[in-house]
Amino acid sequence: MEITNVSEYEAIAKAKLPKMVYDYYASGAEDQWTLQENRNAFSRILFRPRILIDVSKIDMATTVLGFKISMPIMIAPTAMQKMAHPEGEYATARAASAAGTIMTLSSWATSSVEEVASTGPGIRFFQLYVYKDRNVVAQLVRRAERAGFKAIALTVDTPRLGRREADIKNRFVLPPFLTLKNFEGLDIGKMDKSDDSGLASYVAGQIDRSLSWKDVKWLQTITNLPILVKGVITAEDARLAVQAGAAGIIVSNHGARQLDYVPATIMALEEVVKAAQGRVPVFLDGGVRRGTDVFKALALGASGIFIGRPVVFSLAAEGEAGVRKVLQMLRDEFELTMALSGCRSLKEITRDHIVTEWDRPR
Ligand code: FNR
Repeated sequence: MEITNVSEYEAIAKAKLPKMVYDYYASGAEDQWTLQENRNAFSRILFRPRILIDVSKIDMATTVLGFKISMPIMIAPTAMQKMAHPEGEYATARAASAAGTIMTLSSWATSSVEEVASTGPGIRFFQLYVYKDRNVVAQLVRRAERAGFKAIALTVDTPRLGRREADIKNRFVLPPFLTLKNFEGLDIGKMDKSDDSGLASYVAGQIDRSLSWKDVKWLQTITNLPILVKGVITAEDARLAVQAGAAGIIVSNHGARQLDYVPATIMALEEVVKAAQGRVPVFLDGGVRRGTDVFKALALGASGIFIGRPVVFSLAAEGEAGVRKVLQMLRDEFELTMALSGCRSLKEITRDHIVTEWDRPR
């Protein structure tokens, strides 16, 4: 049957993938309250569309950190994409490039920064996890620079891995025929089976729990690439991120996979935007599945959004064609939302085009 929206890929992926892999992609932490909330919160925002505006031309193009892209819809880093499809991150990179948008490659990709760069042209960001061994980090950042990546998305919400119970039950581990390719040849390129989630054990062994704001400064001493701080959900941390020299902020709760019972990102967005005071762009990820969601995020002040699970699910279902289709469907829906709201360009999208449940009566 014809696929008509992004969410439909999840069921197809579930039917195709081994249970351990599907569960890893789909799960959130603990009660998965935040996982549901990331979606549900969008339904607490309604439109105040404007009528009788000439919408025969709609311009969705935008600029992110100085790079022109075709739409404010980008790809979030998701680990281990070759579990979904043999072409994994290559397929995602090609689909992003074809859509004229940005792909963020995970530190834990099953393809290396060099391999992804060799798929062809495209604007790409590199997501960084900070290992205890800082030589590993410095080398990896240098390789990402050389491979032409344009920014570092520093993930700051993962000093330890969130408790994802499906991964514990399944004893989740990277299948032995795959490697965390950015670390190939090092003992940290493989993941040992353990009597916990193999990934949780890996993180406990390798990732630096002591990471702090001074390390954001340190990172700036080893690279000239702009740094996006990924995982901010409060005004306090937004101010600190700006002070620490971040080039941008990604409002993210890691797809609800880290601390459960944090608010939906769309509900945290506005306070972060206000705290950033326009000094740096603010982006959002978490639960974006519709063009209307993209519009709502922009109306609340986001400069763009990133999608995570829709990429791995569509990759599992149809490879590169699936990821292309996801990007195209979101693009089409977003364009239609703009037209039906009376907005011809992104700068015409305002706070007055929406009303939230938490607004006072007008
Ligand atoms: C992630 N996410 C993530 N984030 C990150 O910084 N590094 C990573 O390696 C990963 N890996 C990863 C794997 C999978 C399977 C998922 C679902 C998520 C989080 C990701 O970048 C993003 O924050 C969320 O996926 C956004 O939420 P949605 O779009 O999945 O609802």
